[in-house]
Amino acid sequence: MRGRFIVFEGIDGSGKTTQARLLANRLEENGASVVMTAEPTELPTGKALRAALGGKAKKSECEMAVLFVEDRIAHNIAPVGGIEELLESGAWVICDRYYYSTLAYQGQSTDYEWVKSMNLRCPQIRKPDLCIYVDLLPEQSLERISKGRETVEIYENIETLSKVREQFLSVIRDLGETDNICIVDGYRGVDEISEDIYAIVSLLG
Ligand code: ADP
Ligand code: TYD
Repeated sequence: MRGRFIVFEGIDGSGKTTQARLLANRLEENGASVVMTAEPTELPTGKALRAALGGKAKKSECEMAVLFVEDRIAHNIAPVGGIEELLESGAWVICDRYYYSTLAYQGQSTDYEWVKSMNLRCPQIRKPDLCIYVDLLPEQSLERISKGRETVEIYENIETLSKVREQFLSVIRDLGETDNICIVDGYRGVDEISEDIYAIVSLLG
């Protein structure tokens, strides 16, 4: 099988990272070359975002939208470890968050059409082969987050995540015709969700 570009989306704490890892392991067991990656990235553009997300650097939501786009372009075109380069080499690229997140988080806090056009009309931002949206209620995801770690990022509160989840569902309706998006119910056991996801990925051929 040739490499594919798969992204995981969902609100904070919905189980994206857990499921991305399980999918990567399973593909590797079947002989695929797989690279896991994430946004914000580890590139300088991503580090600036991490400072803002941790509350250390104050940025407006419009500035955040632009910074995420800049980070995404850098992620696509990086000569070593960039999405384009990895796909070119035949690897599967599994990315934890992508432009659906900007459309959901900054799309609800700024102007949706502006955020959408920056991401979807940019020639250096590739469309994924598949987006897996792990759906969970904010009450459930925040409970999981509170068990797992002590620091809280700027969007990790019930008010924001409730708006973001509604916006994710609206983005999925909006992009349903142009993007390949599957919703999986994240309020189940880790293995059951993983089986569902593998079945969806197997359909990519
Ligand atoms: P995200 O990447 O979306 O923030 P994580 O995969 O890091 O989510 O999961 C957040 C927390 O919830 C972690 O502590 C993880 O172990 C736990 N978790 C993940 N999936 C499940 C699940 N299906 N049921 C219960 N807890 C889960
Ligand atoms: P992440 O580390 O994936 O958070 P989590 O593991 O808790 O789900 O992402 C960091 C934060 O950045 C998260 O609150 C969502 C936010 N974000 C945006 O607001 N817009 C974006 O485009 C991206 C990629 C992330």
